[in-house]
Amino acid sequence: MELIQECSTRTTLKRVLSPIELLLLGIGATIGAGIFVITGIAAANYAGPAVVLSFVISGIAALFAALCYVELASMVPCAGSAYTYAYAGLGEIWAWIIGWDMILEYAFAISAVAAGWSGYVSELLKNAGFMLPTAFTNSPLIRGGIINIPAIFIILVITGLLILGVKESAMVNNVIVLLKLGVIFLFLYLAFGHINVANYTPFTPYGWGGVFSGAAVVFFAYIGFDAVTTASEEIEDPRRNIPIGIIGCAVVVMILYISVSAVLTGIVPYYALKNTDAPISFALTAIGISWGSALVSVGAIAGLTSVLLVSLFGQTRIFFAMSRDGLLPKRFSYVHPVYRTPVTITLITGFATALIAGLLPLQIIVELVNIGTLSSFILVAITVMVLRHTHPDAPRPFHTPFVPLVPIICMLFCLGLITVLPLVTLLRFIVWMAVGLCIYVLFSSKHSILRSGKITMPE
Ligand code: ALA
Repeated sequence: MELIQECSTRTTLKRVLSPIELLLLGIGATIGAGIFVITGIAAANYAGPAVVLSFVISGIAALFAALCYVELASMVPCAGSAYTYAYAGLGEIWAWIIGWDMILEYAFAISAVAAGWSGYVSELLKNAGFMLPTAFTNSPLIRGGIINIPAIFIILVITGLLILGVKESAMVNNVIVLLKLGVIFLFLYLAFGHINVANYTPFTPYGWGGVFSGAAVVFFAYIGFDAVTTASEEIEDPRRNIPIGIIGCAVVVMILYISVSAVLTGIVPYYALKNTDAPISFALTAIGISWGSALVSVGAIAGLTSVLLVSLFGQTRIFFAMSRDGLLPKRFSYVHPVYRTPVTITLITGFATALIAGLLPLQIIVELVNIGTLSSFILVAITVMVLRHTHPDAPRPFHTPFVPLVPIICMLFCLGLITVLPLVTLLRFIVWMAVGLCIYVLFSSKHSILRSGKITMPE
């Protein structure tokens, strides 16, 4: 396929990431607010102790999506991830739709996670005796907030890091991810002996409906493993290493989430998690291990930072690919001659997400992020099936097993999770997509490189 040759010859980005760095990049992008914040909300309000099953259900959706991603990522190792695959398999308009969809997934997730970061930092500082004014640590409409300054601060710091370079950013990421994994294991170790089986009864206090709604909410926790694929042009030997990175990451986080949620709901009753934004630290305090709780808070802040780092990275690479293809203004894909990073688009993404994080109420955003991601997973599954049909002989270093069964199961799980999200989320999503299509018609379709004949797409 010519798109494959196109991006291996025309890439201007540096290939510096090893498989372990890739796995850490995936884990860095994935373990964050989902486990450190949303688990408690899901257990208390939706699933009860059966939140562990919610993690299994959404994990299956993520795992099947990972199996689909890997075939495409190994075939089309270009920056831009699902956007680029849809370009190769389904054509430009679908590529635009998925790219626009992924802006919801990444840009809005960045804002949501930055707000979580701000919450943990404020909490930690408060415990250390420094009280930040609530007006400047919350977005408007939340607890008397005016602007969320810590959220803006952390996004701008990470934007600076990403401009300096991917290798340097990956090194910071590795340290943070190890710290984050360390506190998760510490929590499991400290808490395991305090499990009281009585806390598991009733197991499904809100019924099976609650378990599925919980799955649609905790799905947020799995978002990020696909960020590995947005770095395809910066990975050593991408055809071999991308499958290791993606599937490894999905499996590792699923095991960790199931373990953490099972232990968490075993040490405190699920309803006790109602009034906390920091369920894991809260639970450790509840069983009398305050020092562990403080350490976990530090690890959570580190965890959220690495999610921000990789999500911001992913978003810039998607914009980069879209701009290179002419669907967004060409100057967005300018690469700095010394740092070899796409500096313009990194700055634009950093400022835009900082603004969203600083000013918008974010509860709605988590659901929007989930619907955006679930629909892009569905399009990825469709692309696998379409390319098998249109390009049966194209080289596939990794084959998704049992096609079309695996893509179909992926689609069914993702569709099922979308249907249990609130109707208002679906309506907001439709408005978002309608805005995207207007931009496509008014700008992108007129500037597309594909249409101008400068890139030849497969028949
Ligand atoms: N999966 C990421 C998190 O949980 C978005 O923060």
